[in-house]
Amino acid sequence: MRVIKEDIERINETITFIGDVSTGNLDEVERFDIAELVRKQAKIFASQSVGIEVTHQAPANQEAITNPTTVAHVLSNLLKNSIEAVRDLDGARRGTVIVRLNKSAAKHIIEVEDNADGIPPEVEKKLFMQFRTKKTGGLGIGLYYCRTILEAQGGKITYETTRGKGTRFIVTLPDRG
Ligand SMILES: Nc1ncnc2c1ncn2[C@@H]1O[C@H](COP(=O)(O)OP(=O)(O)O)[C@@H](O)[C@H]1O
Ligand SMILES: [Mg+2]
Repeated sequence: MRVIKEDIERINETITFIGDVSTGNLDEVERFDIAELVRKQAKIFASQSVGIEVTHQAPANQEAITNPTTVAHVLSNLLKNSIEAVRDLDGARRGTVIVRLNKSAAKHIIEVEDNADGIPPEVEKKLFMQFRTKKTGGLGIGLYYCRTILEAQGGKITYETTRGKGTRFIVTLPDRG
């Protein structure tokens, strides 16, 4: 039963991915408070991650004209990865994940930083490629998906990682206002 449920979740993720990219609905922009979205998402992940400190640093509000689905999907993929990585610490130290939101020129900048063990070099080599995962139940599409949808909108994703110390992903998304 459990296997079937996980399979369905993975298929759903893939369908969401294909749907968003092929229907072109990433072109749809809305005016919304990106700080509120970031706060809400960090809180949801915090409530689901017992024993892991998930915090956020964001302005009280930050108006954005962009595609909210992109922000939500990218952030949830990055939060999920960081939470999975700090879980792997197995209590060696308290896992912390911090989400930051800033704006520079006409770009929204979202960072997700964790204090897990960093990304091993062999994983780094293929980091943004599809279907590369060592996780049970992982699809290995998360970062590929993030990069694809961000680049389609003039955004980008970069990262810094230090073995034994942690990883920070940095997302830049232009405001389309
Ligand atoms: N914050 C992180 N810390 C350590 N490793 C990471 C982190 N984020 C991603 N990774 C590594 O990159 C791989 C690819 O991530 P992703 O594309 O989201 O696929 P998946 O999570 O399904 O494996 C992960 O399997 C993991 O090994
Ligand atoms: Mg992932």
